[in-house]
Amino acid sequence: MNQINTSSVDAAIRAEASRYIAGGVVSLNRKVDPHIVFKSAKGSRMTDVNGKEYIDYHAAFAPYLLGHNNDHVNNAVKQVIDSESSLYGSGTNELEVKLAHLLCSLVPSLELVQITNTGSEATAHAIRLSRAFTGRDHIILTLGGYNGWHNDVSRAVTPSLTAVGHRRLGSEYPFIPLSAGIPEAVKSLVHVVGFNDLEAISNVMKQYPVACVLTEPVMQNVGVVHPKPGYLESLIALCEEHGSVCVFDEVKTGFRSALGGYQSVANVKPHLTVFGKAVANGYPLGVIGGRRDIMEQFDAADPQKRVLIAGTYNAHPVNAAAAIATLELLMKEDIHESIARVCDVLYKGLEQLFFEKGVPYHLSRNASAFCLYLMDHAPVDLHDILEHHDAGLDVKLRRAWIKNGVYHIPIPFKQGSVSYAHSMRDIEETLDITRRIIEDL
Ligand SMILES: Cc1ncc(COP(=O)(O)O)c(C=O)c1O
Repeated sequence: MNQINTSSVDAAIRAEASRYIAGGVVSLNRKVDPHIVFKSAKGSRMTDVNGKEYIDYHAAFAPYLLGHNNDHVNNAVKQVIDSESSLYGSGTNELEVKLAHLLCSLVPSLELVQITNTGSEATAHAIRLSRAFTGRDHIILTLGGYNGWHNDVSRAVTPSLTAVGHRRLGSEYPFIPLSAGIPEAVKSLVHVVGFNDLEAISNVMKQYPVACVLTEPVMQNVGVVHPKPGYLESLIALCEEHGSVCVFDEVKTGFRSALGGYQSVANVKPHLTVFGKAVANGYPLGVIGGRRDIMEQFDAADPQKRVLIAGTYNAHPVNAAAAIATLELLMKEDIHESIARVCDVLYKGLEQLFFEKGVPYHLSRNASAFCLYLMDHAPVDLHDILEHHDAGLDVKLRRAWIKNGVYHIPIPFKQGSVSYAHSMRDIEETLDITRRIIEDL
């Protein structure tokens, strides 16, 4: 076999990418340093074009709850392709019915659902549906939340502390756009409040006609920030008092936390919920669902009240089959318990190592989602993280992990994800590597 200069393979792909792809990488949140070109992944491990292997805790921003290329899910996809099932684009197909039935039986708040391709589409539909249902235009979002790329929700996820300014308990934060090109008219309808700040939500609701509050129940785009006890119940009650729709964005928490979503762990029922990511273990599928009277507005008899939901590829049989296979596997086996056992060893091991290192740390977890904050307490919101977390040390740690074969995306306080494919051996290896690199941090 010819000797390949591996680093030039890597560089050649990156150079070609920058010739043809705007920004050199598809989906620019993947533009990170180091810029690695991956070639394959199976289970808990990814391999780059140079043949270097990594234990993966990024999971492509979290969908891989069962691990990469799970055989059961892939076989369901192969079966769909072999059976000549297709995207008919007319009428109902059996797979979408089966999937909708499964979703409604697993998540108690789902009376009706619709299927999309992505989480962003699902949140866009949830906002428009809430606006149509309430006849109001204003919406409330949380600081540090990410709910997709569209205009209504594109506020900065991790702005600098300078941009955010002082802590604003009981009131709004400025809308700091995550993108250029968002009309001022849109920004004026969006109110950004701190997570866990009920008073701020209540104050905005008294001032403006609010269609919905859209929030992750656990903030998992800035690590893992838990709701305070009673926060989610009070949030739903506040929405009911003011006639607003409470929308949970469970794109990250859903199915990873539990089969019934995080809402089943918290024992609450939001009015609408969106799901994505882990629901189809890496295949592109999103879900919007919830209360019948709200969801029925997608098919209102009065065309003035009807809310458009359409998409050429919605519930594509490949993705629907992947989602069904994922959910059926999660229902059949004690997967969440098994992942929890592995997580426990990882989390305790990391805590021990950082305790011995003597730097402030707090390991925050929500089942298989975790974040090692380099600060001395559990954060209550993004402001707390920006004020206290050592982002520089965090990125240094992540880069050292990557160099040594553990992939944790080199962006500060991004959630880590453990999968069903992670073995105790993976965890021991991760801890051994951490033990080796921690001294030089
Ligand atoms: C909580 C949350 N909501 C919505 C989205 C958007 O989902 P998608 O990237 O599938 O459009 C994401 C993506 O990271 C997310 O984390």
